[in-house]
Amino acid sequence: MNIWTALVAFVAALLTVAMFVMADWDLPPVKNTQTGYRGTAMVEIDDIERLQASLEANQLPETPWELDTSGPRASEVYENVQVLGHLSSDQFDRLMVSITEWVSPEQGCAYCHNEENLALDDVYTKVVARRMIEMTWAVNEDWMDHVDQTGVTCYTCHRGHPVPQHVWFKEDPPGPTRGWAGYTAGQNTVSIGLTSLQTDPFTTLLGEEGEIRVESLDALPSDHVASIQDTEKTYSLMMHMSGALGVNCTYCHNTRAVQDWEQSTPARMTAWHGIDMVRALNAEHLDPLKPVFPEARLGPLGDVAKVHCTTCHQGVSKPLNGASMLGDYPSLSGAP
Ligand code: HEC
Ligand code: HEC
Ligand code: HEC
Ligand code: HEC
Repeated sequence: MNIWTALVAFVAALLTVAMFVMADWDLPPVKNTQTGYRGTAMVEIDDIERLQASLEANQLPETPWELDTSGPRASEVYENVQVLGHLSSDQFDRLMVSITEWVSPEQGCAYCHNEENLALDDVYTKVVARRMIEMTWAVNEDWMDHVDQTGVTCYTCHRGHPVPQHVWFKEDPPGPTRGWAGYTAGQNTVSIGLTSLQTDPFTTLLGEEGEIRVESLDALPSDHVASIQDTEKTYSLMMHMSGALGVNCTYCHNTRAVQDWEQSTPARMTAWHGIDMVRALNAEHLDPLKPVFPEARLGPLGDVAKVHCTTCHQGVSKPLNGASMLGDYPSLSGAP
């Protein structure tokens, strides 16, 4: 045996010992919460350390000062206020300070404004921000079935970033061939849940109202035929939803009868409204902004960045752990 072989054997032996003594092979500490009848496996299993970390990562930003809603209206004080004219000028100014904190803390007011003249609309981000105010109103007024009284502000999605950290673009549809492998059907490009399911469930299921329901309701051949590809898309969307909320499938389904609404939890109904809401936000608010965005902001197929469940939820079942910021920002809870 030469010296190198001996050395390699020695290191390998050390590593084997280290594997048993040092590496953490135990389950992390977990918390179990029963969510359904006993014996139905309806239980939510949370990793306590992850839970604690997400609690800390989802704190609310500070509110700058107490609101004064009296005094002259912004429309009387400023020149070009098209959507916020009904606010008092104090309320208007405070909202400007807060959206700067929420959307462009590093870039400041200049991210949306020509600092020579704040009334001009020549910076595209200002035009987008005005549409974003309307989108926020729409979420808080029209989608209470999903966001309830909690609602959202710019911070729910932006968290201090001009482009929210979790958005999606349309992906190229799978090409007809990849090398000798033939038709790939979008498989094996791994992006969701480390699986080899279809990578892009969003284009069809959150963009263009594709069919999520794939289970047949009877054993005999029926009209309801879903392909394996359709089914894989449903499963990748479900994994996205579970990941976005940081929950197991049993948070919404009784997994012995996934399709059956009677046996599902109330959260499934909230999620169903959420899917509808996401489709509406993408189609009615974000897609129409396409001409406003510079090319660098568009995706590989020329579409705008769109929202999915992670955009707001970011790993928790209620964004920001269910805390509402609307009490401090009544101006964002709906159109005047
Ligand atoms: C994320 C984008 C954004 C940021 C950042 C921002 N603003 Fe604005 N600002 C707007 C929008 C949108 C309007 C127009 C509102 C309307 O049409 O009702 C506006 C309008 C204004 C106006 C009214 C100008 C006029 O005469 O019409 C003032 C004043 C103003 N902002 C001040 C500020 C200040 C000060 C800051 C920094 C602390 C700031 N803004 C940061 C988006 C932004
Ligand atoms: C539901 C999630 C959501 C909410 C709520 C939201 N935004 Fe956005 N915002 C987005 C998405 C998605 C984009 C598109 C990203 C991009 O710029 O390509 C965006 C883009 C923007 C941009 C353009 C940034 C850039 O650099 O191109 C601005 C400015 C902006 N939002 C301001 C706001 C303001 C102000 C509010 C609150 C009144 C708000 N947003 C609320 C999701 C949201
Ligand atoms: C946050 C709630 C939620 C979670 C978590 C969730 N689902 Fe779903 N699931 C739904 C909703 C809502 C629908 C129905 C969508 C519709 O009908 O448009 C659905 C539908 C389905 C369907 C199609 C049922 C049919 O009618 O054909 C399958 C399969 C499914 N889910 C599997 C899963 C799996 C597997 C997981 C875990 C990886 C999971 N779901 C996690 C909410 C959830
Ligand atoms: C615009 C932001 C936003 C988006 C996008 C969003 N949600 Fe929500 N969601 C909320 C808010 C806010 C709440 C908290 C409502 C409350 O306090 O009851 C919530 C609550 C929920 C709940 C109830 C949780 C519970 O414990 O009762 C479920 C389930 C849920 N969302 C699923 C989804 C799914 C699935 C998607 C993607 C299809 C989605 N959400 C997209 C903002 C959003």
